[in-house]
Amino acid sequence: MPRYDFDKIIERKNTCSLKHDCAKERGMPENLIPLWVADMDFCAPREVVDALKKRAEHGVFGYSEPAREYFGVLKSWFSARFRADVSKEWLIQTPGIVFALSDAVRAFTDENDAVIIQPPVYYPFGEVVRSNNRRLVNNDLINDGGAYSVDFRDFEQKVIRNGVKLFLLCNPHNPVGRVWTEAELKKLGGICLEHNVTVVSDEIHSCFIYGGFEYKSFLTFPEFSRISVVCTSPGKTFNLAGLQLSDIFIPDAALFRKFAAEHNKSGYSQLNAFAHAGALAAYKYGGEWLEQLLAYLQANRDFLKDYIEENIPKISMTPPESTYLAWLDFNRLGLSPAEQKDLVVNKAGLWLDRGEIFGDNGRGFERLNFACPRSVLEQAAERLKNAVNEL
Ligand SMILES: Cc1ncc(COP(=O)(O)O)c(C=O)c1O
Repeated sequence: MPRYDFDKIIERKNTCSLKHDCAKERGMPENLIPLWVADMDFCAPREVVDALKKRAEHGVFGYSEPAREYFGVLKSWFSARFRADVSKEWLIQTPGIVFALSDAVRAFTDENDAVIIQPPVYYPFGEVVRSNNRRLVNNDLINDGGAYSVDFRDFEQKVIRNGVKLFLLCNPHNPVGRVWTEAELKKLGGICLEHNVTVVSDEIHSCFIYGGFEYKSFLTFPEFSRISVVCTSPGKTFNLAGLQLSDIFIPDAALFRKFAAEHNKSGYSQLNAFAHAGALAAYKYGGEWLEQLLAYLQANRDFLKDYIEENIPKISMTPPESTYLAWLDFNRLGLSPAEQKDLVVNKAGLWLDRGEIFGDNGRGFERLNFACPRSVLEQAAERLKNAVNEL
């Protein structure tokens, strides 16, 4: 097996990269180190690049359906990695998970119905609820010195009081990096089952699980299959977000029909021809690349944690159990939001994601994407240290 070189710096400027090319358009200074939006500065597995080249060389780019072998490859992936046994009839493909979340909100709720989420959470969760004119109910996670957990009592009370119809679960959780345990998922699922709440489990980060933690897919709880919609994607796992393909599994036939009907209203049918070629090669051949990537990411995570602990003790970082996103707590610096922004952007020259976009309880935090070559991460950490020291 080749050793993949994740230390290699790949110039991403002038590739229409949201992360690297759009500072001006987004009101940011140029030349920041971009560690914000969640894609990686690494090349996808060689076999994926080769499959895309082959597809491009063919030169005819008509309407496309998945290859016949795709479902079998996908099924093996989920069975081997997560002990999840999926059926072809459960699968519907969408051009992304956020697209599917929005479909789900319209499919399973009516206007003004309540939808519950767990802030701080990936900000499109709130956006798809609000933009579809549904009522957003927040079940804030409990933050105990950087250790996040679910407030089950608050969850159940809010479900009952608001007549919640839909729960958008983030498993593993972005941005706090928790891999929800079997017991936590059973408790949440049990409450939802009892109160007829459909659960949309966004499992896009499920292939990034660090040593010592075990991820359970919502697909592995047969008792919840009649209320479950599970969103998966090769987009994060293999760094293919720009190809736009996600695989949504809905075991219950009635839920499936509702979702499919709403999805069809969007007018979207066949996915991108390159997405099919890339996803097939990724799930078929990408396992070894992923193992090596995970080791690299875990080392990046540990480097960053140790560096911050030793050099910037007023910022705290609980090592994420999953994801390549560090959730940094700046609160002990005692800065106003404007001062914190000035510190990160102007003084440190970093482009991070500001904590408050993930919810009010994200104030005073920054999310840092450490899926980059170590030398870039070292430079970013040093810049942050120097900026904090000069305060
Ligand atoms: C939890 C979560 N869901 C969904 C997405 C985006 O998925 P997609 O690009 O398939 O819409 C992200 C990207 O960061 C994410 O973190």
